[in-house]
Amino acid sequence: MTTPLAPYHEPVLLQQSVDALAIKPGGTYVDVTFGGGGHSRAILARLGPGGVLVAFDRDSDAKRNAPADPRFTLVASDFRWIANHLRFLGKLPVDGLLADLGVSSHQFDTAGRGFSFRFDAPLDMRMNQLARRTAADLLNGSDEQGLADMLRKYGEVAQAGRVARTIVAARNVRPVRTTGELVELLRPLARRGEEHGFLAQVFQALRIAVNEELSALEQLLLASPSVIRPGGRLVVISYHSLEDRLVKNWMKTGSLDGREEKDVYGNSLRPFSPVGNKAVQASAEEVLNNPRARSARMRTAVRQ
Ligand SMILES: C[S@@+](CC[C@H](N)C(=O)[O-])C[C@H]1O[C@@H](n2cnc3c(N)ncnc32)[C@H](O)[C@@H]1O
Repeated sequence: MTTPLAPYHEPVLLQQSVDALAIKPGGTYVDVTFGGGGHSRAILARLGPGGVLVAFDRDSDAKRNAPADPRFTLVASDFRWIANHLRFLGKLPVDGLLADLGVSSHQFDTAGRGFSFRFDAPLDMRMNQLARRTAADLLNGSDEQGLADMLRKYGEVAQAGRVARTIVAARNVRPVRTTGELVELLRPLARRGEEHGFLAQVFQALRIAVNEELSALEQLLLASPSVIRPGGRLVVISYHSLEDRLVKNWMKTGSLDGREEKDVYGNSLRPFSPVGNKAVQASAEEVLNNPRARSARMRTAVRQ
């Protein structure tokens, strides 16, 4: 008997996010985080023959999931360059944009990619396998203060200074090259019983830094007014508070730091108006079936 292949990714908040796009059958949509294509397939199912879907993913593994559908195009690029690509493809403006941020289960569960401390593998963590800098480069090349800041900011690692010091002391003897070496080095720093959570925070911080995830999101948000037509929808699913804060600020105020810009008459200059005040979360049932959905927060806004 053969073991069935693990699914590439189980889409999170699938129904809710595709509903939030308010799809018009003849419209043009963009899924900037294609992954396993679960959201894209649901969007295509709601589009008519004249509809268009452009998807982005910077991981070349995602290509294998591309549906053979004349309405669909996959762009193998970082979504931070969305405006240039859509202009080049002649698809501007679009009626809706969906971003389902973070890593796919495929990336996380593929041992050799180095995203998870469950496996021993080279410290890689690049979503784009052609990107210049791996997690090992970052870990062995950043100064101690830079490492501590990164761990604190992206992973909320409580003992960030101590962890950075430990890494620097170890790499002065020999570079840290694998997930196994990093785990062995850091496990003794965790409080008893909290090893898993502690390592998860460190690995999350490294992943966010290697892939420059927050600056990519910032650039996507800043580009969104020039990409989405008035009345069109911006739908973002995020998985940690730093992402969600940026999305919330942007949708509510039109700035990334949450300071609303106004014209001389006091009218808001924000390009979007949020749909609802609170982020949508997955139901208990969805979380039970897909634990990844636990931290998901979805926000929607309409282009003014
Ligand atoms: C959570 S998964 C998306 C899953 C997808 N919605 C599905 O249903 O299968 C996130 C995907 O976005 C990609 N990604 C993350 N940041 C990206 C960026 N800045 N540019 C392009 N792709 C990105 C990752 O490579 C990953 O495949």
